[in-house]
Amino acid sequence: MDKIKELTDRLDMTRIPRHVAIIMDGNGRWARERMRGRSEGHAEGVNSVHNITRHASDLGIKHLTLYAFSTENWNRPPQEVETLMYLIGWAIRKETPELLANNVHIRLLGEIDRLPEQVRKDLEAGRDATAACDGLNLNLCLSYSSRWEITRAVRRIAEDVLDGRLSAGGIDEKTIASRLSTEDLPDPDLLIRTGGEHRVSNFLLWQIAYSELYFTPILWPDFGQEAFLEALVDYQSRERRFGKTSDQVKEENPN
Ligand code: IPE
Ligand code: IPE
Ligand code: MG
Repeated sequence: MDKIKELTDRLDMTRIPRHVAIIMDGNGRWARERMRGRSEGHAEGVNSVHNITRHASDLGIKHLTLYAFSTENWNRPPQEVETLMYLIGWAIRKETPELLANNVHIRLLGEIDRLPEQVRKDLEAGRDATAACDGLNLNLCLSYSSRWEITRAVRRIAEDVLDGRLSAGGIDEKTIASRLSTEDLPDPDLLIRTGGEHRVSNFLLWQIAYSELYFTPILWPDFGQEAFLEALVDYQSRERRFGKTSDQVKEENPN
C-alpha cells in the first residue's frame, strides 16, 4: 500500500497520458506457473481488465485501448479460442452495468463479424448501452490486427478514388488515419506490453509511430495498480521530442 501511495505522490496529475494502449500478455504463463490450465489464466486476466479500467478512469485517462484478441490468435487450439470467446461474452455482460455507472464508453475495434454471433451481440449490447457515456473511452480490440486494419483502409481509399469522392493527390495522413478502426482517437501516448516480450505483435502499427513504449515482465493477471502507476511514472520521466532537439522541447515547455 505504501508503494502505491509513494507512486501516486510522484505522479504529476497535470501530465497524465491522454491515451494508453495495452498488449495484455502472459495469461498462459501465469497459469502454467501455478500448474493450472490456460483458461484459468485468461479468467484471471479478466480481473486485471476490470481493475486497470477502473484505475485508468479514476486517473482521468481519456482513452484506454486493450488488445484482447488478435487476428493471429484465431490460430490457437480451437478449445482455447472457444474459452476466450466465452470469457469475452461473459465479461462484457458482467461488467457493462458498472462501466455504465462509471460513465465508461465501450468501443469495439477489429473484425467483430468474425466473433461468434452471441459474443458479438453481447459486445454490441455493451457498446450501445454505453454510447452516451463521455468519461473514459474503453477501446476493445477483438479479432484485431494492424495489417488487417491498414489493408482495409487502403481498400476504402481505393474505392473512394474510383468513385470520384477523393483524388489520389488529395490523400494525406489524415485520409489514412480516419479510415483506421481508431478513426478519431488521438494516437496512444503510452503503449504498455506485459508478459516480458519485446514486440508489438501487429498492434496499432500506424498509431504508435511516436508512442512511448513500456515493457514489463509482469504477467497480465499480476498487473495491478502498483504496476500501472510504475508505468505511468516511467512515462512521465521521458522527454517526448517528436524529432526536435531537447533544447527546443524545453523552450516550448518551460515547466
Ligand atoms: C494473453 O495471454 C491473452 C491473449 C493473447 C488472448 P497469452 O495467452 O498470450 O499468455 P502467454 O503469452 O501464453 O503467457
Ligand atoms: C498479443 O499476444 C495479442 C494479445 C495480447 C491479444 P500474443 O501472445 O498473441 O503475442 P505473440 O504471438 O506472442 O507475439
Ligand atoms: Mg502471449
